[in-house]
Amino acid sequence: MSFFRDRFLSLSEPDSREGMMSPPVFFYRLPTLETADLILRKPVMKDAKDIFRYASDPEVARYVLWEPHRSLAETKSFVRFLRSRIRAGYPSSWVVTLKETGTVIGTVGFIWYSDENRSAELGYSYSREYWNHGYATQALQAVTGAVFRSLPVNRLEAQHDVRNPASGRVMEKSGFRKEGILRSRILNKGEFVDTALYALLRSDWEKDQR
Ligand SMILES: CC(C)(COP(=O)(O)OP(=O)(O)OC[C@H]1O[C@@H](n2cnc3c(N)ncnc32)[C@H](O)[C@@H]1OP(=O)(O)O)[C@@H](O)C(=O)NCCC(=O)NCCS
Repeated sequence: MSFFRDRFLSLSEPDSREGMMSPPVFFYRLPTLETADLILRKPVMKDAKDIFRYASDPEVARYVLWEPHRSLAETKSFVRFLRSRIRAGYPSSWVVTLKETGTVIGTVGFIWYSDENRSAELGYSYSREYWNHGYATQALQAVTGAVFRSLPVNRLEAQHDVRNPASGRVMEKSGFRKEGILRSRILNKGEFVDTALYALLRSDWEKDQR
């Protein structure tokens, strides 16, 4: 079944593969995930204020493919975009909130999803105020767990600009294995940059659960 063509039809159908959820149902429901310090949930419009605070920080945007947000209106468009994808049963992102305060400190989600190859790429970004507390790692582990438990995915990828080793640490701490350097892989802010490609296979993840 073609994922995109039949997404509406399959919104009401379970996935027959290994008792997993149909991907559009998963993306539509985007289940709330909980870790020691965080709640990952669907974005709502009022999250835009917290997101704008960090997404307007050039340091946060330095190694990602988006430009720093210049206005709250721009962030609202971003949140609207995430929400519209969820409503359509397309891959989108969770907002990551601090359990204690409810503050939105980042987002984590799907860069792409391939039903054909049963694979996906994950990406994330967090407010500078909250870096180096282990939050990105907690959230990535929660997402990989949810994906492998609910979706018929075999391979999860993540990649980072080689000048951004902290992101590679997050991947490593979440069980991803480095596969290599992709030369001039992305055009980031006018510059071709190398990325490090990491992947976590279902078999790696299952081994870590034992
Ligand atoms: C990269 C990013 C996601 C890390 O988030 P975080 O919440 O600080 O991550 P964690 O605290 O879970 O782990 C960070 C790890 O990187 C390490 N680290 C931090 N700066 C580092 C550096 N310059 N070089 C190497 N490792 C570094 C930390 O020591 C920690 O590892 P440790 O637990 O082994 O000590 C965050 O800095 C961020 O959002 N940056 C901006 C957006 C971005 O770059 N997103 C990733 C795109 S691929």
